[in-house]
Amino acid sequence: MLTAKEKLDELLSLGIELNQLNDLDILLEKILRDARRFVNADAGSIYICRKDILDFTYTQNDTLQRRLPTGEKLIYSTFSMPINTDSIAGYMATTGELLNIPDVYQLSPDVPYSFSKKFDESAGYTTRSMVTLPLKNTRGDILGILQIINAQDENGDVIPFATDDETLMLHFASIAAVALERAQMTRAILLRMIRMAEMRDPKETGAHVNRVGGYSIEIFEKWAERHGLDEKEIESGRDSLRMAAMLHDVGKVAISDLILKKPGKFSSDERELMKQHTVLGAQLFLQAQSDFDEAAREVAFNHHERWDGDGYPGHVDIATGEPLPDRQRHDGTARGKKGEEIPLFGRIVALADVYDALSSARVYKEAWSEADVLETIKAEAGAQFDPETVDIFLSRIDVLRAIQERYSEA
Ligand code: C2E
Ligand code: SIN
Ligand code: SIN
Ligand code: FE
Ligand code: FE
Repeated sequence: MLTAKEKLDELLSLGIELNQLNDLDILLEKILRDARRFVNADAGSIYICRKDILDFTYTQNDTLQRRLPTGEKLIYSTFSMPINTDSIAGYMATTGELLNIPDVYQLSPDVPYSFSKKFDESAGYTTRSMVTLPLKNTRGDILGILQIINAQDENGDVIPFATDDETLMLHFASIAAVALERAQMTRAILLRMIRMAEMRDPKETGAHVNRVGGYSIEIFEKWAERHGLDEKEIESGRDSLRMAAMLHDVGKVAISDLILKKPGKFSSDERELMKQHTVLGAQLFLQAQSDFDEAAREVAFNHHERWDGDGYPGHVDIATGEPLPDRQRHDGTARGKKGEEIPLFGRIVALADVYDALSSARVYKEAWSEADVLETIKAEAGAQFDPETVDIFLSRIDVLRAIQERYSEA
């Protein structure tokens, strides 16, 4: 358990840490984990407000987690409820005030809300003490609700939440809310960009970009583990890479329909024009401000480079697309980047993208069988692909298959 001094120190560094995370899912995970650690709570949930509705969005529960085999994720169903005074979360959303309940099974008869036993009964869990507090932005709008469940003493016995901790929890929530609002805005804008790319190129569906994002962070995590990156570097890398990978082909929005939607094989001129989608995409993130912008630029720019140096666009100036003066072939074209000249995120997404492109049907090709796909990828280790990413890819193929299934074409 944390001492009061430790809590204050943590609170001070928290705002900085939370504001470095852009990905909404990863942010919710961290907000809840930190909030629970602050007050030594067994479980907790986050609800997100949407007009008059509360969406139960995310939950953690150490007791239920311990009943699962190690490494397995807690499965929970998301649900929505109206914001009114019938429920505890709804009541809190109405009043906007922190609610500290010592025992939800012994509510005073005067209160308008009641505790729903549904979750406890289906999960085989007993909720007792509960703090419910608002995630308010700087204008005072409630973005969501943080619900922290079952404070524990040093023996692990459930106790009420200390009233002394309420101020600290409110402070924590206001820091978290600022980060949450920013992540929600970033995600909304990026999802619009992805949707725009989809409208231009309906064959590159949302499912495709979700898969490429999923495969990429899976490969990255394993790579990061092998190379001894620390937990923070992994978390922030995952966070940036996921959305960056989803935007790998965003430069295709600037490619003419005649080329983009051609129902057959490209001529060599058409292929040259299509190659510009890398530089065009990277240009959208040229004024890199955040780690995410940098990752998105790196991915768009480098996802068609090849490990053996025969990829594109090679050593060109992002702003102009022109070959860099000292990196040209004899014919004046840009030399391809080679080996570790290609940034890691580019090497990872190159593999994730081709794995998905080969496994899917396109206007210009049929889907390949998994055996053919894997054979090609193995054969291209050290040629088209970084051999280490291929190695990781093959060792994680079962997880990649699960991602493929989860985001299959409807
Ligand atoms: P995409 O369909 O997402 O494919 C991404 C990458 O997967 C391709 O990059 C290529 O490396 C690999 N790939 C896809 N299909 C095949 C295949 O049948 N055989 C092999 N060996 N590799 C394959 P690439 O070639 O640079 O193409 C970039 C994008 O250009 C493609 O993205 C697609 O949108 C478009 N494209 C490429 N060739 C053609 C074509 O012949 N016709 C049309 N209509 N579009 C094409
Ligand atoms: C998001 O909020 O999910 C998008 C931003 C990012 O992943 O970096
Ligand atoms: C995550 O970002 O934590 C989820 C990974 C996935 O969706 O494949
Ligand atoms: Fe591409
Ligand atoms: Fe693609």
